[in-house]
Amino acid sequence: MCGIVGYLGKRDAYPILIKGLKRLEYRGYDSAGVALLDEQGDLRVYKTKGKVADLEAYVADKNAGGTVGIAHTRWATHGEPNSTNAHPHVANSGNLAIIHNGIIENYAVIKRQLEAKGVVFHSQTDTEVLVQLIDYVQTTRQVDLLTAVRIALHTVIGAYAIAVLDKNNPDVLIAARKSSPLVVGIGDEEFFLGSDASPIIEYTDRVIYLNDQDVAVIRRGHDVEVVDFYNEKVEHDITRVNLNLAQIEKGGFPHFMLKEIYEQPDCLRDCVRGRINSEANHIALSAIIDHKERLTKARRIIIVACGTSWHAGLIGKQLIEQYCQLPVQVEYASEFRYSNPVISEHDVVIALSQSGETADTLAAIELARERGAFVYGICNAIGASIPRATHTGSYIHVGPEIGVASTKAFTGQVTVLAMLALALAWERGTVSEEEYVRVIAALNEIPDKMQELLEQGEKIRDISRIFTYARNFLYLGRGYNYPVALEGALKLKEISYIHAEGYPAAEMKHGPIALIDEEMPVVVIATQNALYEKVLSNIQEIKARHARVIAIVSKGDDTVSQLADAAIELPSTEECLEPLLATIPLQMLAYYIAVCKGKDVDQPRNLAKSVTVE
Ligand code: F6R
Repeated sequence: MCGIVGYLGKRDAYPILIKGLKRLEYRGYDSAGVALLDEQGDLRVYKTKGKVADLEAYVADKNAGGTVGIAHTRWATHGEPNSTNAHPHVANSGNLAIIHNGIIENYAVIKRQLEAKGVVFHSQTDTEVLVQLIDYVQTTRQVDLLTAVRIALHTVIGAYAIAVLDKNNPDVLIAARKSSPLVVGIGDEEFFLGSDASPIIEYTDRVIYLNDQDVAVIRRGHDVEVVDFYNEKVEHDITRVNLNLAQIEKGGFPHFMLKEIYEQPDCLRDCVRGRINSEANHIALSAIIDHKERLTKARRIIIVACGTSWHAGLIGKQLIEQYCQLPVQVEYASEFRYSNPVISEHDVVIALSQSGETADTLAAIELARERGAFVYGICNAIGASIPRATHTGSYIHVGPEIGVASTKAFTGQVTVLAMLALALAWERGTVSEEEYVRVIAALNEIPDKMQELLEQGEKIRDISRIFTYARNFLYLGRGYNYPVALEGALKLKEISYIHAEGYPAAEMKHGPIALIDEEMPVVVIATQNALYEKVLSNIQEIKARHARVIAIVSKGDDTVSQLADAAIELPSTEECLEPLLATIPLQMLAYYIAVCKGKDVDQPRNLAKSVTVE
């Protein structure tokens, strides 16, 4: 939510800032802006409604010189997306400009207090309150910029990553964070700021991940200094980021989402690499080796997550219950944090998050830790807040996911959950050697089988054309494939704006059947597993009501294929691993329907990749 970029160095800042904003546009894209200090020391601020390209067009014929600047791409929280509410916001003195990601919760109180003192506001945002407050502190108390920022941050409640530029301090940038991510890049006599490392890696691989309540002072000709809100020096590590440009570019695909769908076989190979020893038929997850006692003795597992990650959690529940014989609860992190949950020190909480920055999931982790649970994070973004807030964890290692609709992260999460369930079951002695070895072998074969499925891309594109007219979709699945139905429906609504619902197939008769008619396509995951016959009956019932059926079937299943209006064949695998395959055609179906409808697949309306606010 909102992308932040900053630069201070020896080059022109503007091209670096614009490129950085483009890399961060997945975080928000309703308006954008840039503030620069030019050679004469003038502060120039340009802002537009719309995307970064709109900002670029607006700035094209303007003075965009200067070697220091900050830039922002917004996901609106307070105030509609327009050029006034866009960041950077400038204080009334005309000296300070700020960019902000997060929410200042007590902004209304501070605003009233400042208004009472004569401060005039120009936007509807919480962010403007912060810059006016810093300005007010600086001018009334006659303190330096760092002190003014620290004092202001003592006053505000909320979540933020900020960067402040001061006309009177052209060689300084101040950055600070609380509950929203911020990374400082260190180059050769130059410094970068980013909401994540993606705008930085083109210039340097040396970064500092700021922690909560860190304030970084970036000064030309000096090392970065980090202090806390009380001005106490904070020791910080300079980390090397292992990311390359190819990973964050489209590589010939029309959209990041399609690229990421097609990357899945390789991603899964990376995810299991070094963890599955195929010769020894064994899974080694370092978190389980390091915390064997705590994890094997758990009496209950609680999975907390949001959105697509929550769907992966539902599959994780089935895997862990089947193999470890441990009760598992799956909770929306947003509900869990306010539900006063009963947690004990015998519980293990698994937090699932692609971005590792989701505010609700972070809050759920904090609560679980306070109540004594052991917390295991499963994340994708290396060095993000969640991996740092948990006791242990496993990265999914699928590479940066830029498309707003999550695809490869979902299959990566399910893969890690499958490895975790099997490894834990092995340690607990709740899985037979024969089954353990068989499922590991099947997991190893998944990337090749995904590849086989991806080769049906054209067929799925043709199917999607027929169904683009629909206004509602129903997705049905059972057992391991019920969360796949939920995920398929979520993908479709997110990017095509078609209403879609996922249901356990047997629930159809308890309500949703009332909706079924010739205008409502039904996607049914009908693979040949234990509940195959029952799902087959559901299909008959749907067809009797004249709805069109798109079926995901086991390879060679003519019965369902002949009954359905369109069928996509899945290679066979273990039932517990079917979600890894069945999800792929549903991702593609959503993608092609959205493309046919002319939607912006990578940046769907109202969504943002990393939900760092409540
Ligand atoms: C859907 C999607 C979201 C995220 C959710 C949690 O395509 O991407 O539903 O899954 O916002 O995000 P993470 O996994 O980053 O915590």
